[in-house]
Amino acid sequence: MPDILIKVEELKKSYQITKSNNLEVLKGVNLDIYKSEVVAIVGRSGAGKSTLLHILGTLDKPDSGSMTFENLDVFSMQDKQLASFRANDIGFIFQFHHLLPEFTALENVMIPAMIAGRKDEGKAKLLLEEVGLAGRISHKPSELSGGEAQRVAIARALINQPRIVLADEPTGNLDTQNADAVIELIFSLRNKYGHTFVIVTHNEDFAAKCDRIVKMSDGVIV
Ligand SMILES: Nc1ncnc2c1ncn2[C@@H]1O[C@H](COP(=O)(O)OP(=O)(O)OP(=O)(O)O)[C@@H](O)[C@H]1O
Ligand SMILES: [Mg+2]
Repeated sequence: MPDILIKVEELKKSYQITKSNNLEVLKGVNLDIYKSEVVAIVGRSGAGKSTLLHILGTLDKPDSGSMTFENLDVFSMQDKQLASFRANDIGFIFQFHHLLPEFTALENVMIPAMIAGRKDEGKAKLLLEEVGLAGRISHKPSELSGGEAQRVAIARALINQPRIVLADEPTGNLDTQNADAVIELIFSLRNKYGHTFVIVTHNEDFAAKCDRIVKMSDGVIV
């Protein structure tokens, strides 16, 4: 049995819409994430996938339930400790890469390292080479194709050697060819470095290639 990296138990999350209307989005999610696996989270629009991913990334807190990372109780950490945990141990990839427009590809990749107090320019260059962008390090996001920008975002997610990478529809904005390149890249990085990836996707081919598919429906895992 592989080691469990993250254990989520009975996670609940509601949004208060009006005084009398409470929208229960996560209704008791139980989930184990194993080290070095690539897990796909699938389910229809509104099922709660992004909400769950945000909580896994500590960008949001649940109303109740627990989440342990190795054996660390994540939501009992103080804000400062939580921010440092988020900066060092978690990488994020979003559908619309969210690169900073005024910075070059190289600078964008270096930003999470700088936030964590390091410069890591050499490592950022190496990662950009790894994602096939050695010739684009000085390009700004507006000077990159959609697929290239997404690969920069992947390099950025990996710069701090996070223990888990969370991706919300990383191919959602790409054509088939670029989507396939991103999918291949994610698997080759996992095979080389052993990163754990949790990927929300509507791309069925992508989900089918993952080690495991977790299906969400109406706020629970089915
Ligand atoms: N900040 C918020 N306030 C109120 N309701 C919200 C908020 N964020 C999300 N929701 C609602 O929670 C439900 C789940 O949203 P979520 O973004 O997790 O869905 P999803 O499974 O990622 O869907 P999609 O596949 O369309 O991205 C939706 O019905 C959404 O309208
Ligand atoms: Mg979503």
